[in-house]
Amino acid sequence: MRTAAVIVAAGSGTRFGGPKHTVRLANVELWQRSVDAFVAAGTDQIVVVGDVPGGLAGGPRRRDSVAIGLAAVAPDTEWVLIHDAARPLITVELIARVRERSLVGDVDGVIPAIPVTDTIKSVDGESVLMTVDRSTLVLVQTPQAFRLSALREAHSADQLDATDDAAMVERQGGSVVHVMGDPMNFKITVPEDLVLASAWLRAAADRE
Ligand code: C5P
Repeated sequence: MRTAAVIVAAGSGTRFGGPKHTVRLANVELWQRSVDAFVAAGTDQIVVVGDVPGGLAGGPRRRDSVAIGLAAVAPDTEWVLIHDAARPLITVELIARVRERSLVGDVDGVIPAIPVTDTIKSVDGESVLMTVDRSTLVLVQTPQAFRLSALREAHSADQLDATDDAAMVERQGGSVVHVMGDPMNFKITVPEDLVLASAWLRAAADRE
C-alpha cells in the first residue's frame, strides 16, 4: 500500500509570537522532527508545506495548505497522512497505529484521539450554561490518515473552513474512526509548550 505524508508548517504562529516551525527543539528544527518520524516509519513520499527547506508555499488557511500538499502527492498513492508540523513529538509508534487501522480497509479515515480528562462546560461569556458529558468526547490529534481519493473529493466538494481534515470527510458522509492518540503528541501553540516538550525529551534521553 503506497502511503504519503503531507506535513503542514505554513501557519503564521500568531499565538507563538512568530514563525515556530524553524525553532529548534533539542537541536532539531520543529518541522524536521515530523519529517524524521515519517522517514523512520517508511513513508513512501513526504511533502512539506511551509517556508522551510524543500517546502511548498502554503495557503491562507490550514485547509489551503493541505490542498497544496495534496496536489503534490503521487497519483498512485492509496493513503495519505496529514500531519501538523506543530506536533513535533509525533512517534513512529503513533504513525504505525494509525496506519495499521487503515490497513483493515473498511473506512475512509483514521484519526488519533485521546480521552478528555478535564470537566467540560458550555459557557456564554461569564455565565456557565451547563456541564457537558465528557464520556463521549475526545481530543483529536494528527497524523490523520485518509484514502487519497476520499480526502481529495472532500476538499473539492466542501469549501467551508475546518480545523482538521476529518471534519471535511465527515461532512461528505465519509466513515472516520479513531485510535488511541499520544498525550505527548501535543501541539506547540505558545512558547511555554516548547518548554514542556524540551523537558519531555530530556526525560526521555535520561531514561535511555
Ligand atoms: O493554526 P493551527 O494550530 O490549527 O495549525 C495547525 C498546523 O497547520 C500547524 O502546523 C500550522 O503550521 C499549519 N497551518 C498551515 N497553513 C495555514 C495555517 C496553519 O500549514 N495557513
